[in-house]
Amino acid sequence: MSDVNAFRRTLVTSALPYANGHIHLGHIAGAYLPADVYVRYKRLKGEKILYIGGSDEYGVPITLTALKEGITPKEVIDRYHTANADAFQRLGISYDIYGRTSWDLHVDTTQAFFTKLYEGGYVFSQEMEIWYSPQLDKFLPDRYVKGTCPQCGYEEANGDECESCGAQYAAKDLVRPRANIPGDTSTPILRQSKHWFLDLPKFTERLKTWLDSHPEWRANVRGIAYGWVNDLRARCITRDTDWGVPIPLEDPDAVGKRIYVWFDAPIGYVTNTRQWGIDRHSDEAAWQTWWKNPDTRLLHFIGKDNVPFHAVIFPAMLVGQGDYILADNVVGNEYLNIFNRQTGKEEKGSKSRGNMISVKWALEQFAPDVIRYYLCGIAPESKDSSFDWDDFLLRYNGELCDVVGNFVHRSLTMTVKNFDGKVPEPGTLDDEDNAMLAAIPEQVDAIAEALEGFRFRQALERLIDLGRKANVYFDAKAPWVTRKTDPVRTATTLFVCCQIVKALCHVMAPFLPDGARTLSGVLGVALPDGGPDGGPDGWNAAKEALPAGSALQPPQILFPKLDKDRIAELAEAHLRGEAY
Ligand code: 2FM
Ligand code: ZN
Repeated sequence: MSDVNAFRRTLVTSALPYANGHIHLGHIAGAYLPADVYVRYKRLKGEKILYIGGSDEYGVPITLTALKEGITPKEVIDRYHTANADAFQRLGISYDIYGRTSWDLHVDTTQAFFTKLYEGGYVFSQEMEIWYSPQLDKFLPDRYVKGTCPQCGYEEANGDECESCGAQYAAKDLVRPRANIPGDTSTPILRQSKHWFLDLPKFTERLKTWLDSHPEWRANVRGIAYGWVNDLRARCITRDTDWGVPIPLEDPDAVGKRIYVWFDAPIGYVTNTRQWGIDRHSDEAAWQTWWKNPDTRLLHFIGKDNVPFHAVIFPAMLVGQGDYILADNVVGNEYLNIFNRQTGKEEKGSKSRGNMISVKWALEQFAPDVIRYYLCGIAPESKDSSFDWDDFLLRYNGELCDVVGNFVHRSLTMTVKNFDGKVPEPGTLDDEDNAMLAAIPEQVDAIAEALEGFRFRQALERLIDLGRKANVYFDAKAPWVTRKTDPVRTATTLFVCCQIVKALCHVMAPFLPDGARTLSGVLGVALPDGGPDGGPDGWNAAKEALPAGSALQPPQILFPKLDKDRIAELAEAHLRGEAY
């Protein structure tokens, strides 16, 4: 386990979603929102941090979508890159750059990676048998061919892997192959084609040493990573397709082939960092500080299907470059399922079932903070979790509105009304006041501790806990009663309440940026956002007092309650498949 304090800056990546559909809430709860909360927390704390994202625009997922929608791959990626960049931005996923693997710069980065590995003896070529369509006269890589899984009998298995049982097999072992292309009725045949392979077994020892040095990673990630590293085999990194990065070899057999999407996609993180450096600093070399300096802490946020690529294959590719850092943590998440209220059962989210909720649709119904609150609260960190409309209403209305929103509102309303719009001067503090004030730094540190450990649900629970403690204090002190009898007592109570409100404003900022921004305006407190260059510590500033006499703006409702009937209507629309 590395000494986290020894790092001087952090580089965070979230998986690059394929630009072949709308991002949905399952994506957000896993790879995006936790990363964004983490990044916002670090920025607020003034640490140097850079957050990289973007679209994954090559490979069969794109060309297959193009075929099915009757448009070109370029039209597919342009449409969904734009839509997803917009959805992320509106939800407040605060990338420093949201790039594209179709950029020319990405050809350069990817080819440099390939060439270095090739020259280092980590890439070799070999003939292999691939399914081929006699009718279309073309190869059928990856999902272009479907059939029956040789291991479990699942009839929708892909060419070389089964989504149902997880089996991987040689293409020739697929049972009853059929082309997955509209109009192609021919039976695929096997044909020889020369391809290039990444010689993964050569990295075994290095990868093992690295994994052994990270016992702190989530158990699910370590389990999958060790499963792979203990049985590494060479992997084909090229495909028979014209949609992808060209293979940088003067070899006639490379014609009509491209680099495999899972080779170029993680390199997209590097490309996008390069582009960020050019845009921000006009510096073509700025990215190297983030990728080649051991002072940098690299963190990948992903869903569990991406673990082998981020905890084994991409690290091997980085080792083969010679001078890149490896991830200090791979924060892999489980899946967000959907609770179907009609059947009373949990379902996997899938396009064919029509049960996905797109971010685009969700943002048409709710403010970003509403979505962020619920998804962070049910983030599938160590096991699958479930989106459930009843739970959604219960948590948002019952916790965020009733506990935090209500406390903030009644504290500020009473203060503004009774003390001339200013934080009152306290009298003598009693034991309850002191205990409440002492709870602030304790709770702020407890939230930070959970965030540092990537336990986002727990961090949010601790934030709500601070609100609960505050409400208990408020009710015990009953300022609405003392107001008539004991102005000094009332002033003292509301002074303490203002301190809690201020602390809440700071600690909610990573989770609920809009609420925090509104509240910071009411309180007149700064929420710094240092970004890649760092800045002042606005996180621990939560523990600093809001001085008596500070002017307050008229309070606003931070988190308006959701209407039960409206939620019931939306749940119905969701069941009808209208939420995507
Ligand atoms: O699973 C996916 O959606 C992939 N597009 C993720 C790629 S992550 C990274 F390697 F770019
Ligand atoms: Zn199977």
